[in-house]
Amino acid sequence: MAYEPPYPKPLDRSSKQSLWNLFKRGRRSWLATLYEGSYEGRISRVRLPGVQLFLVKFPDLIKEVLVDKFQHFPKHELSETVLKPLLGESIFTTNGPTWERQRRMLDPAFGQAKLKEVFSLMRGGADAMIQRLDAVEDGGEVDIEMEMTHVTADIILRTILSESVEGERARKIFSAFHLFQENAVAMIQLSFFRLPLWLAPRHYRIWKRSGKEIRELLAVSIRGRFEAYQRGETGEHADILQSLLEARDPADGSAYTLVELVDQVAMLFLAGHETSASALSWSLFLISRCPEIQENLHREACHVSGAREPEFKDIAKHRLIRNVFRETLRIYPPVGFLTFRKSTGGQRLHKHDLPDGSPVVISPWLVHRHRELWDRPNEFDPDRFEGGLDQPPCAYIPFGQGPRICIGAAFAMQEAMLILASLARRYRFEPGPGPEPEPTSRLTIRSLNGISLRVWKRPEVAHAQAIPVEREEVLMEAAKCPFH
Ligand code: HEM
Repeated sequence: MAYEPPYPKPLDRSSKQSLWNLFKRGRRSWLATLYEGSYEGRISRVRLPGVQLFLVKFPDLIKEVLVDKFQHFPKHELSETVLKPLLGESIFTTNGPTWERQRRMLDPAFGQAKLKEVFSLMRGGADAMIQRLDAVEDGGEVDIEMEMTHVTADIILRTILSESVEGERARKIFSAFHLFQENAVAMIQLSFFRLPLWLAPRHYRIWKRSGKEIRELLAVSIRGRFEAYQRGETGEHADILQSLLEARDPADGSAYTLVELVDQVAMLFLAGHETSASALSWSLFLISRCPEIQENLHREACHVSGAREPEFKDIAKHRLIRNVFRETLRIYPPVGFLTFRKSTGGQRLHKHDLPDGSPVVISPWLVHRHRELWDRPNEFDPDRFEGGLDQPPCAYIPFGQGPRICIGAAFAMQEAMLILASLARRYRFEPGPGPEPEPTSRLTIRSLNGISLRVWKRPEVAHAQAIPVEREEVLMEAAKCPFH
């Protein structure tokens, strides 16, 4: 039997919880409000005061909402309320022609060519992480959530703005973001229950202030580059901001304004590091509990790049590492539920007529553990991904689906595989002291009590031999990534 990692045990079918009890449980984590029955069936209706909410759980219905009829299911204003202080009018929450323009203009910044261009900036962040971990004594304890948040924030600042998180401004952004994320949870919960946000006055104040502070700090970097670009100093940066400065709307040739740039960069900072940090922390936790898998990853990483650090051409060759990462995204999807959609135009899903304006919720967490879709849904088994999944596409949605699928999916895969390959080559991880991590829902799925691991160096890596070219080609073929 494969390893079954921790997850909050669902509420018993027969246990009837009052709305107030669910509200209290949800304060700790909305995962704690799920019932046994939540992991079954096609669609559930949840009655809240003054509104019915629809939880859509089966692939054919998810496809209707996210792909076939996505224009009838725009993003709900509830998500905008919670994210606005930080993201302004960003692509994450807009709809209609505004969203279409933003997506058209952002897409090229995440194309294959750009990913190759930013690889060396990513590598810089991974090298800094190695320096930090090399300084830890053998067998020393590492707060791996903290470390993964550090490296992914560093990589996102390097790839977007060519800045490192070690700089003074970046450090301030980092700590303001920590406050934003901590306090946004209370805001999400209040808006879920359609209560005014000022009911939690302390959280409300900190959440608003920290969102504003991050935007102001980011604006300093962006304004300098924006004004230089306007003066005709086009600069030599290979980063994503450079692509955004150069972006023109194919429909009318317009460029981003300064405010639009701040909105998009703030959104990329949030979406681009918090999600990856969550997925990488859980990946390392899982491999620390599965020594055999960990040894295989180490061997693969050494075979692919020998005694040197992984390079761009190596990334797609790590078949096992990719399977581990994809299985982690199944079992601990960073985005536990997608931004709420709103039903419009008199939609019918399965046997339900949806009143216009009803919130529609799709949860990767529930779909990925759905009992009718997955064999042994709560077990960690990276081999599921060997040779491709049998499930329909909308049964596996860590990056969403349809026209609003994550724009950074390929970026995230490249970054995660670089980090995991770099770590699997050089270090061995073991569970740290203390209790098992307890998955909880913040902006992403995190551990309530942190994730502590012990780390050992592997001196033999200095003598590792890369495997011969013919074999590399076989690996490359097998390692085809749907996001590349
Ligand atoms: C493991 C890492 C990541 C995961 C699991 C993830 C997941 C997701 C999901 C589920 C959505 C769809 C949300 C919805 O439909 O409501 C999304 C959207 C988005 N993500 Fe990611 N993401 C990751 C990394 C990134 C990165 C690295 C970036 C950029 C640097 C990024 C930028 C975006 C953007 C801009 C959108 C909005 C797209 C739109 O609405 O058109 N994400 N992401």
